[in-house]
Amino acid sequence: AIMQEAPAAEIPAASSGQTISKEVTILYGSQTGNAQGLANKAGKTLEGYGFQVTVSSMSDFKPNNLKKVQNLLIVVSTHGEGEPPDNALSFHEFLHGRRAPKLDDLRFSVLSLGDSSYEFFCETGKEFDKRLEELGGERIAPRVDCDLDFEEPAAKWIESVRNGLSEAQAAVVAAAPSAKTTAAAGETVYSRKNPFHAEVLENLNLNGRGSNKETRHLEISLEGSGLTYQPGDALGIYPQNDPELVDKLIQALNWNPDETVTVNKEGDVLSLRDAFTSHYEITVLTKPLMEKIAQLTGIDKLHELIGSGNGEKLKEYIKGRDLLDVVQDFGPFGVSQQEFLNQLRKMPPRLYSIASSLSANPDEVHLTIGAVRYHSNGRDRNGVCSILCAERLEPGATLPVYIQPNQNFRLPENPDTPIIMVGPGTGIAPFRSFLQEREEAGTEGKSWLFFGDQHFVTDFLYQTELQKWLKDGVLTKLDVAFSRDSEEKVYVQHRMLEHSKELFEWLEQGASFYVCGDKTNMARDVHNTLIDIIEKEGQMSREKAEAYVAEMKKQKRYHRDVY
Ligand code: 2AM
Repeated sequence: AIMQEAPAAEIPAASSGQTISKEVTILYGSQTGNAQGLANKAGKTLEGYGFQVTVSSMSDFKPNNLKKVQNLLIVVSTHGEGEPPDNALSFHEFLHGRRAPKLDDLRFSVLSLGDSSYEFFCETGKEFDKRLEELGGERIAPRVDCDLDFEEPAAKWIESVRNGLSEAQAAVVAAAPSAKTTAAAGETVYSRKNPFHAEVLENLNLNGRGSNKETRHLEISLEGSGLTYQPGDALGIYPQNDPELVDKLIQALNWNPDETVTVNKEGDVLSLRDAFTSHYEITVLTKPLMEKIAQLTGIDKLHELIGSGNGEKLKEYIKGRDLLDVVQDFGPFGVSQQEFLNQLRKMPPRLYSIASSLSANPDEVHLTIGAVRYHSNGRDRNGVCSILCAERLEPGATLPVYIQPNQNFRLPENPDTPIIMVGPGTGIAPFRSFLQEREEAGTEGKSWLFFGDQHFVTDFLYQTELQKWLKDGVLTKLDVAFSRDSEEKVYVQHRMLEHSKELFEWLEQGASFYVCGDKTNMARDVHNTLIDIIEKEGQMSREKAEAYVAEMKKQKRYHRDVY
């Protein structure tokens, strides 16, 4: 037992089967190179004791990976009036912003460099130290602040960090099976019936100035929910109705918005205003609803509309109209508020294909939502959820959400399988998720994306990310169709046809084919084009080509997420 100098590597850390991380991440923020040099020195020392060390500039570190880090060392200098070095700016900002994750499992220590002739001596190091504690981290060793003459205090810091790390390891081994229990992955109490109130982190318009469109990019936190998802899944959102529309409706009904009603079987009581805002659908008319209202109110003209002929008149009426129209056209109604509300449909959740990968964005879900605005029957009308997102959803607000799994829209099980993705407009969403997932996993399989929208300049959604993936090889091929940049419309299926030979070769190599987006026109035309291509390049009859596609479906190589 001549083990006095025994490096930590020889402590039988993993014998209990418990995971004790020997991994240490050292991040530096350095302007002149001093902090970088010390970070490398600390790394070398710890490696000598058997730790697996990663040293990286803060600017090269993906903040999303922070949650995976167990032992974090920060070496950072301070400049001017207490400012971080350039390569520390974004990480510093991330950590101090609302995106910063809880870091209850993190152990950390900070070495700060500065110049004591300045008022804000070592300020950046102090901030990191304080913030990491706030987020739940535990110190491996106390922070050390160095003046210009930094060598000696820095060496002391490295020594105390090494001690701290080794002691912790020994302690964990001694305490062996008393591991803390955490909920199994995928376990959550949240569901469609019991949605999670998730915080909105980001909400951006992806379209440029002058676009005909507004496409929102939402980033939502799932932290603390236990909710997990796979690429291809959707997020359900319970939206709120437009408060202006609710006020007009209550006014048209001649009711007092503050009167109370019961909104569910559990007996929850709300004001009329809140009930209309959150609990009932008021923007869609259906035949059953019209019949119920006619019955309840006994209004002749309503009965007439419903009873007339083959129902064409009713169909015509309910198209592009909402509950306010019914009240304006046929009301006000002398009925009880409670009875009227009892006829209405509960607010249904809206589903959006998820645009992110959970492994690339721990605890987050991203969405790509097209704002729906149109004019009909003399009034401007809005999509309920998309306009809530576009106009009334600041970061910091919450949304009731749940995960809607979609087993029919999954990446191939075999990561080598090539994928062909057709996703114009917001149809890009699940493919951003796919590509993030494949990037994170370092997947080898080829990928080909067809994207389209109206104009290159304003509507190339996620252009920067896509081009980076193309450059990195995460995306093998990218073909775009901007329909309104040329005299003749160019659509994704035209691009498919232009590359029909290669596309058929990919299919013959076993590629999976995915379509997401508009159902009525795009998905139908893409489907027909796919058959055209197989017919032409495979030199098959139409029937054979159709059978080929049917076979692809059977082999789960043809997937559609259309709406
Ligand atoms: P358009 O609006 O200029 O006709 C995303 O909305 C893109 O899909 C837009 O460029 C839109 O073109 C295009 N699009 C419209 N109808 C389509 C169809 N039948 N097939 C493929 N793309 C279509």
